[in-house]
Amino acid sequence: MNISVFGLGHIGCVSAACYASLGHRVMGYDINHKKIAMINRGLSPIFEKDLDQLLREQVKTKHLQATGDIAKALKHADILFICVETPSNRNGEIDLSSVKRVCKQISVLLRDRSSFLTIALRSTILPGMVETQIIPLIEKESGKTAGIDFGFALNPEFLREGVAVNDFMNPPRTVIAANDQRSITLLCEIYQALDTPIFHLSFKEASVLKYADNAFHALKVAFTNEIGRFCKAMGVDSRKVMDAVVQDQKLNLSPTYMKPGFAFGGSCLPKDLRAILRQAQKLDTFLPLIDSIIKSNEEHIQHSYNLIARAGKKHIGILGLSFKEDTDDLRESPIIELVERLVDNGYQVKIFDDIINYALHLDSTREYIQKELTHISTILVDSIQELLCHSELLVLGNKTYKHVEMIRELRNGHQLIDLVDLQNITTPASIEVNYEGICW
Ligand SMILES: NC(=O)c1ccc[n+]([C@@H]2O[C@H](COP(=O)([O-])OP(=O)(O)OC[C@H]3O[C@@H](n4cnc5c(N)ncnc54)[C@H](O)[C@@H]3O)[C@@H](O)[C@H]2O)c1
Repeated sequence: MNISVFGLGHIGCVSAACYASLGHRVMGYDINHKKIAMINRGLSPIFEKDLDQLLREQVKTKHLQATGDIAKALKHADILFICVETPSNRNGEIDLSSVKRVCKQISVLLRDRSSFLTIALRSTILPGMVETQIIPLIEKESGKTAGIDFGFALNPEFLREGVAVNDFMNPPRTVIAANDQRSITLLCEIYQALDTPIFHLSFKEASVLKYADNAFHALKVAFTNEIGRFCKAMGVDSRKVMDAVVQDQKLNLSPTYMKPGFAFGGSCLPKDLRAILRQAQKLDTFLPLIDSIIKSNEEHIQHSYNLIARAGKKHIGILGLSFKEDTDDLRESPIIELVERLVDNGYQVKIFDDIINYALHLDSTREYIQKELTHISTILVDSIQELLCHSELLVLGNKTYKHVEMIRELRNGHQLIDLVDLQNITTPASIEVNYEGICW
């Protein structure tokens, strides 16, 4: 099948490479020309495990190519996936501008298209927006009718950064929402290669499902961390407690997201919680539990700050800046929030992150850091040795392999605060450092 993917960010790149590896002919389109050039050279413009190799293979065999020519990308497609960003506005509301812009651009080209095109939206979007905003916009701008001249589908994805390729190939489920049979058939054909159940939902149900998932994931993290804080205060080992909690898969569900550790962050959970809350507020609907997830998460960042402050050291080294291991995505990383609190309170902070250092040669990461995190860029160091020389106290912020390995280099007298639980990777007890865990 001929597939086009519009928006070659985290979700778009992984999706494009994975559709290609399923045997489809994929054309990626983005407004960012540097990303296009990188993909056509077989290089991934984002850091994501397994993506480099997959992308290289698919570009080499010509299953995947990228273009900045929107007309070419549209012409190529039997089905077109939209994977552009849906970030938060300042007031927490969902910002639909990129989705609307790309839909407008597609609509203009649809005017002259005689064959049927399915447009499938993968971006996260609030319930009701497809029916009241997106489909009407495409119909108005193209002069065509949904279901007759073009199909529209909502096909949310359930990828986690860092393991997104594996999640694409082994998703918990596939969700298809569409009003026309042609689009449903096309999407089923694509996803039948993956051995997972397909749920046929309405647009609204599919939209809410994605938010429900993310709210539940955030709830699990915050809940587990509250139990972690409570355990620590009571002198109880939270890891043993939570290991037993997740063993109960009859009543307590699966272990994912239920390891005591650091606050949640990243490009999805915080913004999606804000979007639900803002939408609910507009509808005079109170969601105190979901509201409190964000407060609980903030309390967890403050708790980690308090641990560092209590140690009484001024030279702090942060090992790992992104919100989780094996990703270069810095959006809403809680470690950045922690670093800012430390710097604001006069601490001398230096940061080392192996993946970020590597990803600095990627335009997207470098430009993001230069533009959004100028203050952070000045305290990033190039080597673990430099970080060690600077630090009286080290904070392990994510479990990227090299960071964990580095713990072996710690010497007597070093102090380590572990936000992510080193357990089973290396034994802090074997090094005579002053070790403290965030929830244990
Ligand atoms: N990142 C995740 O782990 C994740 C997980 C699940 C769902 N999602 C959802 O998927 C969507 C995409 O997220 P992301 O993290 O991949 O976004 P991203 O910001 O990494 O990438 C978006 C890409 O779209 C491109 N773009 C913007 N406007 C465009 C246009 N008019 N034409 C062509 N390209 C355009 C940008 O240049 C960028 O490359 C969001 O709705 C997000 O909530 C993300």
